[in-house]
Amino acid sequence: MIAPSILSADFARLGAEIEAVAGDGENRADWVHVDVMDAHFVPNLTLGLPVVQSLLKHTDLPLDCHLMIEDPDRWAIGYAEAGAHNVTVHVEAAHDPVKLAKDLRAAGSKAGLSIKPGTPLEDHLDTLKHYDTLLVMSVEPGFGGQSFIADVLEKVRTARRLVDTGHLKLLVEIDGGINADTIEQAAEAGVDCFVAGSAVYGAEDPGKAVAALRRQAVQASGR
Ligand code: DX5
Ligand code: ZN
Repeated sequence: MIAPSILSADFARLGAEIEAVAGDGENRADWVHVDVMDAHFVPNLTLGLPVVQSLLKHTDLPLDCHLMIEDPDRWAIGYAEAGAHNVTVHVEAAHDPVKLAKDLRAAGSKAGLSIKPGTPLEDHLDTLKHYDTLLVMSVEPGFGGQSFIADVLEKVRTARRLVDTGHLKLLVEIDGGINADTIEQAAEAGVDCFVAGSAVYGAEDPGKAVAALRRQAVQASGR
């Protein structure tokens, strides 16, 4: 699955930018990744619930909301109630991630847990039993266009193994620095869903970029 991140899109034309990856066939994205930043958990500020509510009215693509915010225990639920398909919170920010996952699911969304590059996976395996998606950050969260940190692929391999052996039941997602040069190694490590910002919205035709990335990932994963 390919999830273009609108962080690299033109914020004055978000509806049209999503349409560019919402066509038919192979140019269609699977999810649209929405980076919510609060200038506290990360040193950048983007958009919040009112924008997500508007986007939901404009597209039938599932919205994958990545909340890089403090106190997600308080704020994440609103995104689920609004109709986001998947709501991802950071384990470094959540106070009670198990309760949070239950609340998100009860509100009708999938529950996602994200871990920063320096956060070990092993510490959170019990928590992850309650989650539908694991978002492995392959850059420090906060900005698009950064270089891929290949060290995090070890966490992807571990998560893949735990899913394949039935110990976890979740989708493995990766976010940061995914492009034509890096997607194959991520696919080989076992990623299910690839977030790509600059690689999609920096391309002349975002829809074609989605198709090209997906082709590379499918070929490399052999799954
Ligand atoms: C970074 C965001 C990413 C970002 C990825 O904090 O979470 O979703 O948009 O951008 P690229 O693909 O350009 O690294
Ligand atoms: Zn993101």
